[in-house]
Amino acid sequence: MISTASDLARRAAEARDRHRRPSLRILVSLGTCGIAAGTAPVLAALREAAAGRSDIAIDEVGCMGLCHSEPSVEVIEPATGRSVIYGNVTPKDAAEIVAGGLTGALPAKQIPRSWYYPETEAARPDARQARIVLRNCGRIDPESLDACLAHDGWQALAQVLGGMPAAQVIKTMEESGLRGRGGGGFPTGKKWAFAAAQPGSEKYIICNADEGDPGAFMDRAVLEGDPHAVLEAMAIAGYAIGAHQGVIYVRAEYPLACKRLTLAIEQARAEGLLGRNLFGSGFDFDIALKYGAGAFVCGEETALIRSVEGRRGMPVYKPPFPAVKGLWEKPTVVNNVETFANIPAIIRKGAAWFRQIGTAGSPGTKVFSLTGKISKVGLIEIPMGMTLEEIITGLGGGIRNGRKFKAVQTGGPSGGCITAKSLGTPIDYDTLKALGSMMGSGGMIVMDEDDCMVDVAKFFLGFTMDESCGKCTPCRVGSRQLQLILEGITR
Ligand SMILES: Cc1cc2nc3c(=O)[nH]c(=O)nc-3n(C[C@H](O)[C@H](O)[C@H](O)COP(=O)(O)O)c2cc1C
Repeated sequence: MISTASDLARRAAEARDRHRRPSLRILVSLGTCGIAAGTAPVLAALREAAAGRSDIAIDEVGCMGLCHSEPSVEVIEPATGRSVIYGNVTPKDAAEIVAGGLTGALPAKQIPRSWYYPETEAARPDARQARIVLRNCGRIDPESLDACLAHDGWQALAQVLGGMPAAQVIKTMEESGLRGRGGGGFPTGKKWAFAAAQPGSEKYIICNADEGDPGAFMDRAVLEGDPHAVLEAMAIAGYAIGAHQGVIYVRAEYPLACKRLTLAIEQARAEGLLGRNLFGSGFDFDIALKYGAGAFVCGEETALIRSVEGRRGMPVYKPPFPAVKGLWEKPTVVNNVETFANIPAIIRKGAAWFRQIGTAGSPGTKVFSLTGKISKVGLIEIPMGMTLEEIITGLGGGIRNGRKFKAVQTGGPSGGCITAKSLGTPIDYDTLKALGSMMGSGGMIVMDEDDCMVDVAKFFLGFTMDESCGKCTPCRVGSRQLQLILEGITR
């Protein structure tokens, strides 16, 4: 049991020691994308090739972000942090990787580290990505609490409960400038302050893991790759606003995320990291999972709350906002998965550290899922303020098959398409809005010269029409009328 901060420090030191012991670690990407691309036979072949080698540890990890090169494998020397990443690995490559992974076996399959991320969060000059949210995704076994503890898991909660007043936690969030990553970009600290100011002892924390935008898979990767980070952040939020119960609303279409969340909750409860009297502070907090049935509208926070209550998922007018009157009519903070995943790092490293990353109006990083006609489909985390050009041509490798770029769709079905003339714009919440699109949750769908923009509009409108809950006339009737106009044009 981890009942005090010193228990956690001891367990973390032991876990780090166990983690460093093998001279080589081979990380195998077992997120949904890796599994779909055939990582399981690669894992089996690596295990066979390394049988009897106590100096080699093989770890199953979450998504590394390299969806374009799955199955992917990273070989790391724990003592020095040196590593080589391989993409498109087959079971036949296993023996070579085990024999000479770090010396550059399979040179053709190596993925440049500059594409990927630095060893530490302190960015290396050649690193294009900066990983805060995805710090442990693709680095640790998400089903192992030991691996999580070896990578600073649950340290931020221990720090907060070890003497940081709730008001100071909220102030840290406000000073960090963190804005909600679920789409709206509302300041997280401000939302927490509203909820904390409400009277009463019954309050709730909800993690919005509904992720309904077409082409978006950021939240799924976080839940599959680092579930404990989200649980820890929810407990911190609970302490800050005076809530003792959290709910994760996760779509049932994410079975691996559901499985790993369930396991992480059980592990945390068994160790006393969730439940009563956390770290001997007298603070109680527990988390329940609620499965969504995959309705886009249930990602909207008021519809989500109704769905958790067992009612039909339809939005209601705001105000009152959930922070005042939410789940069971009690003050409720609803935050997105990615928002939560930032929080332990902000607590550990401070608001000033976070503010140095990104832009003045949108500090920090943003995770994007790159999809469509882009060469390197995958998951990236970049500092806010990077240009679309750097993302699409630099990290994304440009357009597939040498075709020309036409547009990139951001912001989900309510977002917009950005064309070539705006590729040089540094992106954050405000610049994307000024371009007539929006950040949304982070799906980026890239289109080439062969894509018809009317068809694209028709696709998104069709999605909105199908997913309309039918409550309000402009959406129920209007989207159908717009669809008829577009059908007329395309016919
Ligand atoms: C139609 C609609 C769908 C939404 N879907 C999601 C979603 O899937 N995930 C999410 O986090 N936020 C979604 N939102 C935003 C939520 O209502 C809410 O603002 C968000 O969860 C708050 O968290 P944040 O402050 O951390 O961004 C959606 C909003 C609308 C209007």
